[in-house]
Amino acid sequence: MDDMPVTIARWSGPRGEVVLRRHGVADDAIEELIVNGAFAMDSAETASEEALADLTWPGARVLVGGLGLGFTAATLLDARVGTVDVVEIEEALVAWAYEGVTLRLGRVARDPRVRLWVADVRAVLTGHEPEPAGPWDAILLDVDNGPDFLIHAENAALYREEALSAAYARLAPGGLLAIWCQGANAGLRSRLQALTSTAREEVHKVQRGRHLISYVIYTARAPH
Ligand SMILES: C[S@@+](CC[C@H](N)C(=O)[O-])C[C@H]1O[C@@H](n2cnc3c(N)ncnc32)[C@H](O)[C@@H]1O
Repeated sequence: MDDMPVTIARWSGPRGEVVLRRHGVADDAIEELIVNGAFAMDSAETASEEALADLTWPGARVLVGGLGLGFTAATLLDARVGTVDVVEIEEALVAWAYEGVTLRLGRVARDPRVRLWVADVRAVLTGHEPEPAGPWDAILLDVDNGPDFLIHAENAALYREEALSAAYARLAPGGLLAIWCQGANAGLRSRLQALTSTAREEVHKVQRGRHLISYVIYTARAPH
């Protein structure tokens, strides 16, 4: 495999650089997303991004915070959800999706069930952005590597009480809030537990090369 990364797209904006790179060729190719100097994700191992989407059900109206490489959104489409509002802070990434810079991003952008919004998902959830407005059957947040490893320092507020309770209030009856994290976070867990007794911590073990990593998805369910 050719290990020299090739830059597919690069954009420099007010929050730093967004870079999409590819390693290798053909079926072995691995796409990698760097946002503001932080490794956001790559396509080598995406089970936990897809596990987020697997928490939904056919026909569901879903909000996804963070387009990334489109794995969560594409898995939702495969799972026959009804609509997907994807809120992505980097306009370049949304533009690249419409251009189809990767097959998966192009597929997500073209699907008539998907609406792509350029916005801060926290502003959407707290009502500082009027659209999209919800309610949603599921709100899936994967905008950082978790509260311990932020892509943007401002995202710290997304994991505090105000934004968490605003997100929870945007759920339709029986709806699910889910938050992807690179590891367990006791503070986030206790804030969700203060919000609802339905708060749960699910560990997803994945093998990345020689490392076994325990990703965590926090969930909270709205009453029926
Ligand atoms: C780890 S990636 C998401 C991966 C995605 N789940 C997937 O399957 O490809 C994080 C994404 O969230 C975006 N992001 C970061 N902060 C955000 C915010 N406050 N609002 C919306 N999007 C944000 C980043 O630009 C990046 O595209």
